[in-house]
Amino acid sequence: MKPENSSAKTYLSGVQPSGLQHLGNYFGAIRQHIQLPLTEPAEHFYFIADYHALTSSRDPAELRDRVRETAITYLALGLDVEHATLFRQSDVPEVTEITWLLASTGGLGLLERAVSFKEKVERGIKPNIGLFLYPVLMAADILAYDSSFVPVGADQVQHIEIAQDLAASFNAIYGDVFKKPQALLSKENSKVPGLDGQKMSKSYGNSLWIFESGKPLAKAIGRIATDSRAPEEAKDPAGVLLIDFLRLLLEPAEFADWSERVRRGGVGAPGYGHLKQRLIQAIEERFAPARARREALLADPAEVDRILERGARKARARAVATRDRAFRACGLR
Ligand code: TRP
Repeated sequence: MKPENSSAKTYLSGVQPSGLQHLGNYFGAIRQHIQLPLTEPAEHFYFIADYHALTSSRDPAELRDRVRETAITYLALGLDVEHATLFRQSDVPEVTEITWLLASTGGLGLLERAVSFKEKVERGIKPNIGLFLYPVLMAADILAYDSSFVPVGADQVQHIEIAQDLAASFNAIYGDVFKKPQALLSKENSKVPGLDGQKMSKSYGNSLWIFESGKPLAKAIGRIATDSRAPEEAKDPAGVLLIDFLRLLLEPAEFADWSERVRRGGVGAPGYGHLKQRLIQAIEERFAPARARREALLADPAEVDRILERGARKARARAVATRDRAFRACGLR
């Protein structure tokens, strides 16, 4: 009872429908998700994790909006839907069936050790059952598509390990049903600071939104923390927050030039105002095509629906096959 796609490589990742995405989301995950289908000859699946979102969402209209905005973000930024399957998690209900199978064979200790759950509880979130089961649903997402590689940020690695362990527990009892997945961490330095220098996070209020432009963009860049040192003063670039942003957005040669001029100081060295102007310009340019595509997609909801429906059909066919294989193995068929 081998996994059917055990020879073909499959990349899969899920993204939380948090609506508007910031540059931390972009450089930390989305960019990699969009590049992989263009460079790796393999199957690629990306889904919007709306079942997962239910553990914290309480507003139906808002959830629908966020799911749509997230899909549009991926499409606008260039996800190639000829080479990647984009779909909504809840369009594949088989993952909830697989969740139950994994919950029935996995040990409780696995979840009790989950760091992200503990962190949420420590932050004062009153946990529901779904939040505790979050890694099991995530494991089902991964295993349902016989995923080989799961491109994620470092914060999700433990969840991938839990998926490996849950697959192993089920397989130890019922045979070789689930394929063992592997986390794929982006090689590039993807740490994106927030406007205040802390990690960029929606909950810290220090985000720079991908599609921001014009006045709101200038205002946001204006908030990037600086100090009162004069342009002429020689500075270690490592201590200049604006330099961290420019590194993400400029070509390496141009970046090296700015960085060197900041380090050297002296007459004609760029001040923080210069760096901010260059950063604004770089963001305006970099995301101009994506902003235009986003506007077009916002005006054509039927096109987004078509893409998601096509994705759902393709994804579901795989998940059904895995569900059937797992059901047969454990005696449900
Ligand atoms: N937990 C992931 C996050 O918060 C989202 C997610 C859900 C996911 N299911 C997944 C990621 C499956 C990879 C594979 O970012």
